Amino acid sequence: MLPTSLIIIRSALLPDREAIAQVITAAFSREGAIIVDLVNDLIKDPTAQPVVSLVATLQENSGEEVVGYILFSNAWLEGGDRSESIAILAPLCVHPNYQKQGIGGQLIEDAVQRLTAAGVEIAFLLGYPSYYPRHQFSPAGKQGFEPTYPVPPKDASAWMLRELKPGAAESRSGKVICADALNAPQHWQE
Ligand SMILES: CC(C)(COP(=O)(O)OP(=O)(O)OC[C@H]1O[C@@H](n2cnc3c(N)ncnc32)[C@H](O)[C@@H]1OP(=O)(O)O)[C@@H](O)C(=O)NCCC(=O)NCCS
Repeated sequence: MLPTSLIIIRSALLPDREAIAQVITAAFSREGAIIVDLVNDLIKDPTAQPVVSLVATLQENSGEEVVGYILFSNAWLEGGDRSESIAILAPLCVHPNYQKQGIGGQLIEDAVQRLTAAGVEIAFLLGYPSYYPRHQFSPAGKQGFEPTYPVPPKDASAWMLRELKPGAAESRSGKVICADALNAPQHWQE
């Protein structure tokens, strides 16, 4: 286990682009190229703004190494205002050499803090139903929110939300629309 002091989470910068692509490729293997393109497209996409784009870096004597990445982009409810205070997670990844050491969790919690400080009220994601509940995500369908593209019933529990403002999910419902770059069926498969 790495001492937590060796991992620093910070905003991703333009010069991190190649290192982020390497982490994504190592973590997602077959789908890596699609996800690298997705990240590059989301960062440039005006409808995705504001984004929370963070790297986890391992501090070494020789400098720092990027070992993890998380990206939340803007989203909104169908028919609603695009500045609705909703964000969606895609992607999250940690280099396979550094998984199971809490880095994914640190990235989620740091991003959630930043989103909350920026006034975001609900965070959504399509992801592993056995991983995200430990970070306070719970099924979103049961709470009245539809994903941008339908998720097969067997994967319904993969569509999740976390309230960043207490009560924010109770007062709303509807279909969550994501940024243009994420708005393609290939990005909505569990
Ligand atoms: C998912 C991922 C980001 C987790 O990062 P991490 O730094 O290993 O996560 P943490 O150390 O915070 O948590 C590790 C725990 O998550 C569990 N976990 C990892 N992947 C999981 C999965 N697919 N389903 C369920 N649990 C999972 C581990 O088994 C471990 O459990 P333990 O604490 O009981 O041992 C990382 O495994 C990864 O990059 N995977 C490949 C890319 C990916 O699938 N991203 C998520 C898309 S939804």
